[in-house]
Amino acid sequence: MSKLSVEDLSKVYGQKTVLDHISFEVQAGEFLSILGPSGCGKTTILRILMGLLEPDGGVVRKDGRDITACSPAERGMGIVFQNYALFENMTVQKNVEYALRFHKELRGKASEIAAGLLRRVGLWELRDKKPGKLSGGQQQRVAIARTLALNPDVILFDEPMSALDVDTRLALRREIKDIQREYGSTMIYITHDQEEAFAMSDRIMVMEAGRIHQIGTPEELVTDPADDYVRRFVLENLQIKAESLSRFIQVAP
Ligand SMILES: Nc1ncnc2c1ncn2[C@@H]1O[C@H](COP(=O)(O)OP(=O)(O)OP(=O)(O)O)[C@@H](O)[C@H]1O
Ligand SMILES: [Mg+2]
Repeated sequence: MSKLSVEDLSKVYGQKTVLDHISFEVQAGEFLSILGPSGCGKTTILRILMGLLEPDGGVVRKDGRDITACSPAERGMGIVFQNYALFENMTVQKNVEYALRFHKELRGKASEIAAGLLRRVGLWELRDKKPGKLSGGQQQRVAIARTLALNPDVILFDEPMSALDVDTRLALRREIKDIQREYGSTMIYITHDQEEAFAMSDRIMVMEAGRIHQIGTPEELVTDPADDYVRRFVLENLQIKAESLSRFIQVAP
């Protein structure tokens, strides 16, 4: 049984079809990236999976159970956004504890759980600071720790690195992959950075205008692209790679 499955999902705003009857599955422990141009429906998929938005048609299942009508809190999923969405008036520690306060069984252990997670993401020393005093990368680590606090088995990421510099992105990439291994989490990850998707993913979903062109391993996208769209897309990625590599290659005069 797959961890998550989406069947015939559709979403329409007015006259505009944003998701056009899409279906896909994600296996337990898998890292799936979603790539595609701005406005193709990536965030809409995550919002529907999380329960923040109702689809116009289709079914979302988790571990085989129909969760289409479940509230976000009932889904056992977490989401990390591009803009961190932290509470500015609370300390780092309080941010991580926040969601635990609403859980009867976890409330008593909130500070202990938060402390463990802050150590895990390397922010223990900054626990009493307000988010505004932290770098972008540190703030995103707080957001990740906050998401992990409720121990979700599926974590959704909506362009979590877009606001960060290259070095921070590389460090966070590793951190997210380590967390995935450690917790056995299933991850769905939206990015505009093709190189990032190719480096991190078990499979990549290539979208355009509310449809899925292909879902495959990075290797499959390169060796067996479904159509010209994916072929162009992969070629573009290889060109970006070649350009970044050429910066390191010294050509003798
Ligand atoms: N509340 C809304 N009302 C009307 N249209 C909307 C609404 N939310 C999203 N849309 C439209 O739905 C389409 C898909 O939006 P979505 O945010 O899913 O795109 P995306 O792939 O995440 O894009 P980006 O890469 O820019 O984040 C866009 O055309 C957007 O304008
Ligand atoms: Mg988006």
